[in-house]
Amino acid sequence: MCGIVGYVGPRQAQDVLMHGLARLEYRGYDSAGLAVADRGRVAVAKAEGKLARLIERVDQSPLPGHAGIGHTRWATHGVPSDRNAHPHSDTTGDFVVVHNGIVENFRALRDRLEAEGVAFRSDTDSEVLAHLVARAFDGDLTEAVRRTISQAEGAYALVAMTSRQPDRIVAARMISPLVVGLGEGENFLASDIPAVLEYTREFLLVEDGEIATVTRDGATLETIAGSPVRKQPFTADWETDSVRKGGFDHFMAKEIHEQPDVISRTLGARIRPSEDGGEQVALEGLEWSDRDPAEIDRIWITACGTAYHAGLVGRVLFEQLAGIPGEVAFAHELRYGKPLFRDGSLTLAISQSGETADTVAAARLARRRGSRLLALTNVVGSSLAREADDVLYTWAGPEISVASTKAYVAMLVGESLLALELGRRRGTLSRTAERELVAELRTLPGKAARVLEDMDEVSRLADVLAGSPDAYFIGRGLDLASAMEGALKLKEISYIHAEAMPAGELKHGTLALISDGTPVVAVVTQEDVHSKAMLSLQEVKARRGLVIAVAYEDDEEIGTVSDHVLRIPRVADVFSPILAAIPLQLLAYFVARRLGRDIDQPRNLAKSVTVE
Ligand code: F6R
Repeated sequence: MCGIVGYVGPRQAQDVLMHGLARLEYRGYDSAGLAVADRGRVAVAKAEGKLARLIERVDQSPLPGHAGIGHTRWATHGVPSDRNAHPHSDTTGDFVVVHNGIVENFRALRDRLEAEGVAFRSDTDSEVLAHLVARAFDGDLTEAVRRTISQAEGAYALVAMTSRQPDRIVAARMISPLVVGLGEGENFLASDIPAVLEYTREFLLVEDGEIATVTRDGATLETIAGSPVRKQPFTADWETDSVRKGGFDHFMAKEIHEQPDVISRTLGARIRPSEDGGEQVALEGLEWSDRDPAEIDRIWITACGTAYHAGLVGRVLFEQLAGIPGEVAFAHELRYGKPLFRDGSLTLAISQSGETADTVAAARLARRRGSRLLALTNVVGSSLAREADDVLYTWAGPEISVASTKAYVAMLVGESLLALELGRRRGTLSRTAERELVAELRTLPGKAARVLEDMDEVSRLADVLAGSPDAYFIGRGLDLASAMEGALKLKEISYIHAEAMPAGELKHGTLALISDGTPVVAVVTQEDVHSKAMLSLQEVKARRGLVIAVAYEDDEEIGTVSDHVLRIPRVADVFSPILAAIPLQLLAYFVARRLGRDIDQPRNLAKSVTVE
């Protein structure tokens, strides 16, 4: 959700903040704002809409000064508008706050403040924080923030500043992510590392319940109770290029094209030579005893959105390769359900950001109920990573486009490695089978690169799909997961209605909607159900539907029932979702381009959903 950035140092704060906001815009983009302290006052500028509107405003009336805070918003309480944009001020204008997350008891706090005579100027939950900080201030901003957060409930990150102590910014974290960036004679605060990566590589992670006071000379951390917290900074070794478009028109296109490298990186040092001259998987970071894998009797997989689709693939991999039955549950359902976790169960929580509120909550629940928690995430030190017993990182690098592409593929690779490791350690996978599958994994970067070489057909098809109000996506077994991910990609960035379902389900109702030219995208890679997939496509053709198939390049039969075929290189069927994802991502991308959509920042969405 919303992005936060803060700065204290010798530079013009406005420049650092605007730069940071540009890097954070993917977090939320319905409005943005900043506040800068200068000569006894705090100047605020904000604007509804994309950051470009705020840039226009500050170009016309710059905000000079050397300390400031900025925010890019994804609305939870109150429509996108100038008045609901952050920063929010108290009634004197001396205190400002930016906030990410939700203050759950804001209604009670607001009623109390209104009864005391405070006039509110926005519809947000965040504004209460500005008034609370102002009222709690008696010379020390850190103390005022401490008093404020002891009254506010919920999951949030807050940064405050005041003209009365203009040399500092003070932040508090309650679940929503926050880091301090350490520079030379200057320091930073940010909800995400990319915001300030161009200025520093050294970071301190602010953890739940901690307050950070940041000045030009340093940063101090303390608990809500006031005890000092000392911790070692960590170094972020991300390339600054990874947060730029690198010659592509959109981050999404760049991230799709990074996938061959991402697959190589995620495989990385996790494959090593085996004694029999082949290779085997060796996962780092899993503190498993010899007995632990054998004792897993069930895997719960929990996630949301695209990560959930990765979970659907994982379930099949764990079942087929490691002999472990599993269940995939949307995190927002699991956390309020009555799941029967047992001591022998493993919960795999999957999240690119590691900050999705529902996924973190479901993971916590699983752990509390005795399940061992393994996080599969892209963000080192994220809330999910810190919650888990073990972490498997996808080394996809920062993903900026709101629509997830490379992180999804990296999740599939991570799950494949995990399934192979479990299979070997549980004795369900022979050495020969493991060696063959590892060799297949090794071919994936090259095969993914080949899919990206030939984009003519997919770009032509985009014209066909762009004119249709609906599209249906079908598949069987693992192909169903690919179909579901393809449909999600199409709808989120092109706004075309897309629905995915098991191919065998079509005839139970949805076939009524298939008529002349209705696009049906079919993923057909699984050998054991190939003939059944062909039957479903015959049914579509018989209603004159337009069949677009994603199939192996050597599948000759598919051409007999398809109008168009997007080809992928053949690979072991268990790994086909890794390659099938790519043409489907490209299809969505080209359709959205054709329709002139805002591809990297589709309407109503945000990159990481840190609220319920
Ligand atoms: C779709 C997309 C979302 C996310 C979902 C979970 O392209 O990106 O559906 O997959 O919000 O996000 P993470 O993986 O960060 O938990």
